Amino acid sequence: MQSVKNNARIFVSKALSSYYSLITSFGKSTEAFPKAPADFRPVLRFAACSDIHVSGKESTAEERHPEEERLAKLINFMYDYSAKQEYKGFDALCIAGDMTDGGRDFEYDSFNKVIKENLKDETKFLICTGNHEYIAYRDKDASEGARMFEEKIQPNQDTHEVINGYHFVLCSYSEDGRTFKAKLPWFDKEIASAVKESGKKPVFTFQHPAPQRTIYGSVCWGDKDIPKVFRKYPQMINFSGHSHYPVNDLRSIWQNKYTALGCGTLSYYETDLDGFAGNFPYEFHEAAQFYIVEADAQGNVRILSYDLITDRFFDNEYYLTGLADKNYAYKFAKMKRSGGKPVFPQNTEISTRMNEHLDTILTFTGAEDKYCAESYKVSVFAGLKSVHSSSFSGKYMYLFEDNKYEINIGKLKPGKYTAYIKAMNPYAKTSKELKYKFEV
Ligand SMILES: [Fe+2]
Repeated sequence: MQSVKNNARIFVSKALSSYYSLITSFGKSTEAFPKAPADFRPVLRFAACSDIHVSGKESTAEERHPEEERLAKLINFMYDYSAKQEYKGFDALCIAGDMTDGGRDFEYDSFNKVIKENLKDETKFLICTGNHEYIAYRDKDASEGARMFEEKIQPNQDTHEVINGYHFVLCSYSEDGRTFKAKLPWFDKEIASAVKESGKKPVFTFQHPAPQRTIYGSVCWGDKDIPKVFRKYPQMINFSGHSHYPVNDLRSIWQNKYTALGCGTLSYYETDLDGFAGNFPYEFHEAAQFYIVEADAQGNVRILSYDLITDRFFDNEYYLTGLADKNYAYKFAKMKRSGGKPVFPQNTEISTRMNEHLDTILTFTGAEDKYCAESYKVSVFAGLKSVHSSSFSGKYMYLFEDNKYEINIGKLKPGKYTAYIKAMNPYAKTSKELKYKFEV
């Protein structure tokens, strides 16, 4: 996915030291939802990730390319984590496309080097194309991207494997690198046969874009043809990428006629802002998150979300059970109903100062929310005259950050001003407005 939106008026503090709690808006996202019972015993474990965007370039002072490192770290984390569990298998590494930035020869070489040096034979390598695997060829013939994938990764673009009794079906794009029209009959047939052989156990599927109008980011970045196939299979758990939207926004899991999850990214974040896709939250390159998926012999599934930037689990843990009977604990409406509104801490500190460029900087503590404070809106008035208005994503995806925000309001004439600050959660519920009077 590629888009640009420059939110240049806004910057947010990078200060790591603060007396404000780190936990406030990050720590409570799924406490109301089912967790795996203590006697949950996996017989299968895999990693689900997406959008790695290996460029094959060395990092420089001007340009960072940490994606190869993050992929290696993911693989090694999975082996370390698995070794400490009762069930020690790391059975599959699953990637829902965009492993390269452009599908170029040298990018695949760089990607394959990481895989070869880190992934052991005991772990299956399951992968499908993303739109970026076709980027370098689009102007001439996108199908050359498919040929490069076949040459560099595997001769078959699409995969149906059975691991420890669980079916995995991965579908690459059609030759145009944009749609699934030519692939849907195959995808449908393979899922149907997987479901038939699985009884009530889940079937895992993967493709690059999300089924449209399901998870966070799927309205703009989703595929419109896929849902009509998926909705026939209630026990299916689908993993996708493309949007680069954070996994620890609860909207990245969706259940209705099946289950869908967005895998986030190992490269850079994007989010919606003010209802529009394509916003780059500040520090958007500090992104490396994925799912650890475990299933037991009865078909129950636990999904954990992990942050490779801070080596910490996100709080989003899901326990999926009874899917074939449409037991969906994570329906959008259910999650929206069970959440509250963002609340600013009782003793929220707000202040202003002037920086060296004589810009006024507004500082405030972020709101708390059961899920996360997804975004903020700041307005500043001189009497009735608006002198500043901005909105920006919350920092919930950055576990290394505190919950403090700094907004550059710009150059203000001497006088009296009032700032209004509102927070919004993922379900469009807004906080009470904070009001702060100041003088320049
Ligand atoms: Fe991508």
